[in-house]
Amino acid sequence: MITASAPGKLNLILLVGKPDQRGYHPLYSIFETLNIRERATVRFRPQHDESARIGMPIVVHTLGADLSDLEPTKHLAFRAARALILEADELGIPAVPDGHVLEIEIEKSIPVAGGMAGGSADAAATLLAVDKLLGLNLDRERMHEIARGLGADVPACLEGGISLGLGYGDHMTRLDQPDTPEHYWVMCTMGQGLSTPAVFKEFDVQGRGRSKLPTSLREGDWRVLEGAEQLVGLLENDLQETALSMHPTLGKAWKVIEEVGPLAVLLSGSGPTVAALATSLEHAHQIEKRLAEAPEVENTLVVSGPAQPAKVE
Ligand code: C5P
Repeated sequence: MITASAPGKLNLILLVGKPDQRGYHPLYSIFETLNIRERATVRFRPQHDESARIGMPIVVHTLGADLSDLEPTKHLAFRAARALILEADELGIPAVPDGHVLEIEIEKSIPVAGGMAGGSADAAATLLAVDKLLGLNLDRERMHEIARGLGADVPACLEGGISLGLGYGDHMTRLDQPDTPEHYWVMCTMGQGLSTPAVFKEFDVQGRGRSKLPTSLREGDWRVLEGAEQLVGLLENDLQETALSMHPTLGKAWKVIEEVGPLAVLLSGSGPTVAALATSLEHAHQIEKRLAEAPEVENTLVVSGPAQPAKVE
C-alpha cells in the first residue's frame, strides 16, 4: 500500500491568451501551491468480479466529497492510474496482477469546483503513488509529460512551491527559494461552483484574450517571492471579470470580503473561490472570524503557501 499527497494551488498571476484551434488557451501563470493536500492511497486488491471494472482494472473511492455525479472514467485519479498502466505496458513492466484491481482511495480536503486544482492534485498524488506501486520510477520529465496530458494544472501540483507555468500553463519552472516567506490566505468558497470550461468559453465570447503573452518571467514578477505586502498590486487574474459576470452571488461576496480588511482579494483560478490575502496567520484568522456570519460566503479555509511538492508519504 502506498500513499502520496499533492497540494492545491491558487494563481498569483494568470494571464490568458486567445484560444488555439482546439479552444485551449495559452497561459502565463504563476502558481502558489497551498498547504491543503489531497491524499491518494493505492493498493492491489483481489477482484474477480469483471463487472466492477470500467474498462481497466482500476477502482476509485473518494472520501470527503460527493463525486457521485462524476462519471468514474472522468475522475482524474482514474485517468492518472490508467496513464501509468499504459506506460507500464509500453515498458513491458507487469502492471496489475491477474485477478486483481488497482484500488485508489482519494481523501479530499480541497473544495470541489472551486478553482483550487483539487482534481489536479488528486491526479498528481495518484501519479506518484502508482509510479511507486508499479515500480516504474519515471523521471521528472516523463511524469510532467503524462501530467500535462491529464490536465493543465496537474504539473503545478506535482511541482509544488511557487512556479511559473508557460505554454498552456503546464511547462513549469520552480521559482521559490528556501528563504521565500510564507503567505497566508483565507480561501472563501461559494455555495455554487463554476465550471472551468464554461468560464474559458465565456471569456472568449467576451473577447478578453490577450494577443500576446510574456514568454519568460516578466520583469517585476520576481516580487511574488517577497512578503504579503509586496504582493499587493501584483496579483492579477484575467478570468476575474468573466467569473464575476457569470456567478450570481460572487460580486456581492467579493464586496463583503473586501470590507473585512484583507491586503488584497483575488479570484482563485477560474473561480469561484476567492482568496483574501492576510498579513499574518493571526490576521487570516481575524478575517475568517469576520466572515463567519456572512451569508454570501459558504465556507472559509485558512491556508498558507508555498507548499511542498507532490510526495510519497
Ligand atoms: O486542462 P484541464 O482539463 O484542467 O482544463 C479544463 C478546461 O479548461 C479545458 O477543457 C478548457 O476548456 C479550459 N482550459 C483552456 N486552456 C487552458 C487550460 C484549460 O481553455 N490552458
